[in-house]
Amino acid sequence: MAKAKRLVVLVSGSGTNLQALLDAVASQGPDAYGAEIVAVGADRDGIAGLERAERAGLPTFVRRVKDYGTREEWDAALAGATGAYAPDLVVSAGFMKIVGKEFLARFGGRFVNTHPALLPSFPGAHGVRDALAYGAKVTGCTVHFVDDGVDTGPIIAQGVVEVRNEDYEDEGAALHERIKEVERKLLVDVVGRLARNGYRIEGRKVVIQ
Ligand code: GRF
Repeated sequence: MAKAKRLVVLVSGSGTNLQALLDAVASQGPDAYGAEIVAVGADRDGIAGLERAERAGLPTFVRRVKDYGTREEWDAALAGATGAYAPDLVVSAGFMKIVGKEFLARFGGRFVNTHPALLPSFPGAHGVRDALAYGAKVTGCTVHFVDDGVDTGPIIAQGVVEVRNEDYEDEGAALHERIKEVERKLLVDVVGRLARNGYRIEGRKVVIQ
């Protein structure tokens, strides 16, 4: 069996996607799953995502934009902190910041994001709300590689969720929860397959071997 790949996971919030990855590694074992989480990074303190990492005994790091003079300095600091753990793959699991040039120069082509809409529809920070406001009847989630646009990188996998009439009553909160159920499974599946099988990015097409 090949050696487990090293993952750094970046979070900004509740970290349920991180938890799904932690649970998959714990239940299957790093070798069978193909990957292990070696550190968790965040752009803010005091979030449940960091607590989940600490409970799992993982090292964490926080790099806050406001602690740096420029966005470029923050980006370089985030890239340095991430690179210190020598990851094979970096996963943005609800990490709500756009990374910059240096981070992409170091981790481009191995930086995976999960987005709560069917890209290229509804990119950006409000994918669930925007799909609802548009009146879409289906939405879902997209796991993709990150490029220098906002949610524009090559798509790895997508999951579909139907919109219900009652989703308009709570501004998409229940819809987002249904999307996240699909999203967690998709992310665990995709990260495991990328790690175990290897992959190629051919233009916009991602081929998992
Ligand atoms: C996910 O739906 C992700 O796509 C979005 O924020 C949510 C993060 O959830 N950007 P969690 O922190 O993993 O629970």
